[in-house]
This record gives sequence, C-alpha cells and structure tokens, in this order.
Amino acid sequence: MITLQNLVKRYGAFTAVDGISLEVPPGELHGFLGPNGAGKSTTFRMVAGLLKPTSGRVLVNGADIATEPEAAKRSLGFIPDRPFIYEKLTAGEFLRFHAGLYGMAGHEVDARVTEMLRLFELTAWEHQLVESFSHGMKQRLVMSAAFMHRPRAVLVDEPMVGLDPRGAQLIKAVFRRMTDLGVAILMSTHTLEVAEEMCDRVSIVLKGTIIAQGTVGQVRALTGSADAQLTSVFLTLTGGSGLQEIDEAVA
Ligand SMILES: Nc1ncnc2c1ncn2[C@@H]1O[C@H](COP(=O)(O)OP(=O)(O)O)[C@@H](O)[C@H]1O
Ligand SMILES: [Mg+2]
Repeated sequence: MITLQNLVKRYGAFTAVDGISLEVPPGELHGFLGPNGAGKSTTFRMVAGLLKPTSGRVLVNGADIATEPEAAKRSLGFIPDRPFIYEKLTAGEFLRFHAGLYGMAGHEVDARVTEMLRLFELTAWEHQLVESFSHGMKQRLVMSAAFMHRPRAVLVDEPMVGLDPRGAQLIKAVFRRMTDLGVAILMSTHTLEVAEEMCDRVSIVLKGTIIAQGTVGQVRALTGSADAQLTSVFLTLTGGSGLQEIDEAVA
C-alpha cells in the first residue's frame, strides 16, 4: 500500500507538487500520467524519502517515510528515471551490493540473485561488467535490484522509455506478476498506450495536482464520450499541454 496525503513541494515561489493525495492498494498497478513538468518525478522522490516535502505525508505499507524511514524503505522498491549504476560492477555484484544495502541475509542472497537474473533474462550476463550493457539491459538490471528485497510497494519512474518491444513485453509481464502477488505499483508514464494497456487505475497529473482519477474507462467517461481514446481525454483535460509528449507517444 502506498499512501500520499496532501503532498506539497515548493521551490521558492514555484509549486512543483500542489496537494497530491493518492492511495495505491495491494495488487494495484496505478498509472501516474502527465506531461513533462507535471510533478511526477518530484512526487516519486518524496515518496521514496529522497526529497523532503514542504508539507503532507507519505505512508509506505503504513510506515511514515519521514518518521519511520527504515521501516518504510524496507518494504519499498524505487526505480528512478535516471538510475545510477556502478559501471565497474558485474550484474551479479550489483545485485549483491543492493542486497547488502537492504540487509538481506547471506544464505538467501545467492538464490535470490539467481532468481532475479532469470526473471529479467540476464542470467548469461551475471559475470559481465555493467559498462558493456545496452540501455535495456541496464534498465532490467535496475529493476531486478529494486525487486531483490521483495518490496510490497514499488515506484517506477518512466520504465518504458527506450525499451525495445521484447524488453517492454517482459517488464509488463513482470509488473503483472508482481501485482498478482499483491505488490502495489505506482508507475509514471507519459505514454498513453502504456497506461491504457497496463494500469488498473490512473491519475492524470497536471501542474502538480491530480485532475482526474479512476480506471481508464472512468477517466474516459469524464469527457462524456464512452469510447473516446485516452489520448483525446488527456488532451481535453490538460487543455492541450503536453502535446509534444502525446505526439511522441502516438507516433
Ligand atoms: N530542484 C528544483 N528546483 C526548482 N524547480 C524544480 C526542481 N526540481 C523540479 N523542479 C520543477 O518542478 C516541476 C516538476 O518537475 P518534475 O517532477 O521533474 O516533472 P515530471 O517528472 O512530471 O516531468 C518542473 O517545472 C521542474 O522544472
Ligand atoms: Mg519525470
């Protein structure tokens, strides 16, 4: 469960996140959908405990990220939009390093590394340096690290950017399997097809606030046209901002 309560982030006079409240229950894949600059990454950094909110609260599986950060982070996986990976480590070393950060016990680490490498189709690269990896392989490695410690809540910032169709298909299957196991996933995207295909519910974010929320069907119904494409709903709700992203998404 991921709970955001009236989350606000101001930079001087500029409000990047303007009172976001949201609950992602166990087993839900929730799409956080909006144009560039909407406040998605800022929100995720606050939920992950990397950025202090101006006001508001974040609970991860009931633990407050501000007052109980260790408990909150233990059950949280975070995949940032521009992850940092130590290029001089092998895939296996990277996963073991991550397991160490989360205090995983020695005896469970080997089995879990093997399991994660297999799940993300990286088994053959266990002993190769990360610096030789393609973008898609790095992305899968970062995801395998984020799932290593069996988080019950996962944040993923723009996971589909730059993936080939096979990579995208794999990530979709993994996310679905995780939600079937009861994991709550909050995923940002500006790719409408991704949200439409994958998400149980979506929140449409514009200028730091949620302007629409529900299933894709419910969000569509807000425009009064049951069969409208989400693309046109998004255009209507955002008053045409984010056009460039939409062009990219539908191209
Ligand atoms: N450190 C910062 N200082 C000032 N403004 C920031 C800072 N970080 C982000 N912003 C601004 O906050 C807004 C939201 O950014 P961001 O959360 O990255 O949006 P998104 O991920 O939806 O594209 C943008 O206008 C961005 O320029
Ligand atoms: Mg972003």
